[in-house]
Amino acid sequence: MVELKNSTTILKLNTGAEIPAVALGTWKSSEEDAYNAVLTALKAGYRHIDTAAIYQNEAPVGKAIRDSGIPREEIFVTTKLWGSQQRNPLEGLDQSLERLGLSYVDLYLMHWPVPLKKDPSNPITFTTETDMDGWDFIKTWTLMQELPATGKTKAIGVSNFSINNIKQLIESEDFKILPAANQVEIHPLLPQQELIDYCQEKGIIVEAYSPLGSEAELKTFLTNPTILKIAEKYGVEPAQVLINWGVKRGYVILPKSANPKRVESNFKEFDLSQADVDAILCISKELGEKRVVSPKFGSFPLFE
Ligand code: A2P
Repeated sequence: MVELKNSTTILKLNTGAEIPAVALGTWKSSEEDAYNAVLTALKAGYRHIDTAAIYQNEAPVGKAIRDSGIPREEIFVTTKLWGSQQRNPLEGLDQSLERLGLSYVDLYLMHWPVPLKKDPSNPITFTTETDMDGWDFIKTWTLMQELPATGKTKAIGVSNFSINNIKQLIESEDFKILPAANQVEIHPLLPQQELIDYCQEKGIIVEAYSPLGSEAELKTFLTNPTILKIAEKYGVEPAQVLINWGVKRGYVILPKSANPKRVESNFKEFDLSQADVDAILCISKELGEKRVVSPKFGSFPLFE
């Protein structure tokens, strides 16, 4: 049995800001669940909360942050620009801040490298229709680079960017600011070693979403013999193995839970051995790689 303690691992963004490695993810959390989970998480010791305009829960997330009584500057808050607002990221950020009831976020991410059509009656709706006539993610980034100077976000980054997408950004004419983070899907069926190595070498913090395999592959991991064997060896839960696998590999990890007990247990840290990290890396070699989040946005070649 290992001694489980609250997570204390802190990483550093290329802006110099500190970012706690274990965050609460809120994708798929209803308004009520998001409010309760954020309050529970902050009481349990989390200081990093991740949301997005498209999650439709920024208002309860922000209210829980404000109601927690914890000074704003002690909490790292991330939200994301939805594709339908790529032509006006400042408007997207302003609207997110209004819903959150906060004066700034710590990190503002371009959610996908794809501009999407806007429904005028509701600018933030999920659509698979792209809006790439005279626009692309490089133009969006050009505008996003102006955001840190407004004080409304401390840092800017990207999400769901491939190595090629990042290379295109870096080589673009108006490129000035290196993304602080790239938030992507990572779990044992999608270890993303090449993308992690590339980002870490550039000084871009990697953030793992769906680290427990989301609903689609959660059961695969919670019943996987390698994970169960390691969990038993340390006397911890399978989800704690998955989370600490990410911590040991050196990136931010964003487990989502709406269950107070699981929110608390997901924040417990222990040191996973390198041999166990490597054993978990073998899972995708045995079972094959699998993505759980793979939307189709027109014909845009995602993840290339
Ligand atoms: P719940 O919200 O009821 O806890 P991911 O972070 O990969 O998106 O996974 C989220 C899924 O994993 C949700 O279905 C969530 O359910 C579940 N989950 C979160 N923490 C745990 C845990 N410690 N043990 C088992 N399932 C968990």
